[in-house]
Amino acid sequence: MLQDKMGRKFHYLRLSITDVCNFKCTYCLPDGYQCDTPRDFLSTAEIGNLVSTFAKLGTSKIRITGGEPALRKDLPQIIKLCREQAGITDVALTTNGFNLERNIAKWVKAGLTSLNVSIDSLDPNMFNAITGHDKLKSILAGLDKAQQLGLKKIKINAVLMRQYNGNDVQTYIDWLKDKPYTLRFIELMQTGDNLQFFKQNHISGTDIKQSLLQQAWSPVIRDKSAGPAEEFYHPDYQGRVGLIMPYSKDFCATCNRLRISALGKLHLCLFSEAGIDIRQYLQDEQQQPELMQLLQSYLGDKAPSHYLQQGITGGTQHLAMLGG
Ligand code: 5AD
Ligand code: SF4
Repeated sequence: MLQDKMGRKFHYLRLSITDVCNFKCTYCLPDGYQCDTPRDFLSTAEIGNLVSTFAKLGTSKIRITGGEPALRKDLPQIIKLCREQAGITDVALTTNGFNLERNIAKWVKAGLTSLNVSIDSLDPNMFNAITGHDKLKSILAGLDKAQQLGLKKIKINAVLMRQYNGNDVQTYIDWLKDKPYTLRFIELMQTGDNLQFFKQNHISGTDIKQSLLQQAWSPVIRDKSAGPAEEFYHPDYQGRVGLIMPYSKDFCATCNRLRISALGKLHLCLFSEAGIDIRQYLQDEQQQPELMQLLQSYLGDKAPSHYLQQGITGGTQHLAMLGG
């Protein structure tokens, strides 16, 4: 089992399969993706070796992220190879939803167990203003499809921003009355690229938490592979609300996840200075024992917490680099 000095156990791997993204979210890639040379992202064979190694070390959940992971044509194969690995019970995908409606059936068939879609507004004009794309209607249709296909765990991510969707909290909550989704409000995080935007737009989740508690929403107990959200349920609502508050005091105490970049670097934290290149160990199965030992030893260096409160964002320019 992968465990660090503080006794945190790592059951959950976030795997980025590309850093390319086709959206231009105001807080992440306001000018769009900037690299125009082709990049050599991890192959399915390398991903297979990686997932097999982590599964042997106790990983049970893989989240496939990007950039935008659904830009990769071999996404169904990647989902399938993760799901077929002994010990992996959850294969989740985080997507902006641009081709969700068209492809969700393929992904579910390949073995997807859980879906996160970023929807930063339920108003088509605001959605367009935030992402640069007029895709809201198709994304909502894609979600309905996912539900009809029997996908149980559907989560929506919304990053709240004072100057954009800051007043939309109630609209989102009303929407959950008859949608069995978990809607997670994510506090805007500072990254290397967005300082000015962050200062103008950050909203703390603690006020939202207070108002949820006042409106009789109750906290849900976390399980071992749970994500970073504090979740709440309400008997009158089919959906749940989650709050991801990276600026709250004990956020890092329940950290249970490690990250791999699309070029095969291990990131012990979203806000580490740099990743550790492990790609050379993914070339054949024989190297797995050596990689297992290395991973155990690297974890000894995992810092207790990020330093975001002090404005230190490490090497993270924007979250498309690592998929959040
Ligand atoms: N702060 C908070 N959330 C962010 N995301 C991307 N950049 C940021 C940021 N600076 C979110 C996306 C997506 C998830 C993977 O990370 O909206 O939902
Ligand atoms: Fe874990 Fe780092 Fe995120 Fe904190 S900031 S929750 S330590 S990954």
